[in-house]
Amino acid sequence: MSGNTAAPPRMSPRPGAGSLSGCADCMHQPTRAVQKTVRPVPGQFVQRAILPCVIDYKWRGDFRSDELNELHSEGFGHEPFQHDWRSQVELHSLGWVCARSSGLLVGFVNVPWDGDTHAFLIDTLVAGQYQRRGIGKRMVEIVVEEARAARCEWLHVDFEDHLRPFYLDACGFAPTPAGTIAL
Ligand SMILES: CC(C)(COP(=O)(O)OP(=O)(O)OC[C@H]1O[C@@H](n2cnc3c(N)ncnc32)[C@H](O)[C@@H]1OP(=O)(O)O)[C@@H](O)C(=O)NCCC(=O)NCCS
Repeated sequence: MSGNTAAPPRMSPRPGAGSLSGCADCMHQPTRAVQKTVRPVPGQFVQRAILPCVIDYKWRGDFRSDELNELHSEGFGHEPFQHDWRSQVELHSLGWVCARSSGLLVGFVNVPWDGDTHAFLIDTLVAGQYQRRGIGKRMVEIVVEEARAARCEWLHVDFEDHLRPFYLDACGFAPTPAGTIAL
């Protein structure tokens, strides 16, 4: 059997990915056409073009708390909460971004604020199988546009060191001294 004609394997979901499987026709790879090395049979590798899926981004988009709880538990590696996200964001956030692929919630970011000129980026999440396709970066771009439109002057974020390439290089945040206290 030729490696070029064998059906490519489906990508395995990450542990805890639950129902966050995506589009089988494009092997769950949305937004960008990329070349991936796949192994149709043991020992044989071929390059396969993976077609993009359409991702729908919405500022203050509709979502259910249970689907965000699922995405959150996968992204941050904890047991699913039963948190009432809807009430939280409606009461305390300037906005939020929902990213969906064929209706499935695959990305989310929450933007609480001080009610004036400072907005904060938290809960930035992209489902495992959809990561490294530009979804996180696009969600942050939308936040920047919307926070500017709301006349905010500063967008803040804090993050662990390994995410410097994402926030500083890809999303354009400038490094600044900052501090936190775990309460
Ligand atoms: C962090 C996260 C939101 C990034 O989303 P994403 O859609 O995968 O990111 P993008 O595809 O837009 O990344 C754009 C660029 O940022 C950088 N980048 C993204 N994720 C990175 C990571 N985990 N480590 C280092 N660099 C990263 C890369 O340079 C990437 O470009 P490349 O894929 O061409 O190399 C996603 O990895 C995630 O949900 N992680 C789990 C939850 C989490 O830790 N959230 C952050 C809370 S502060």
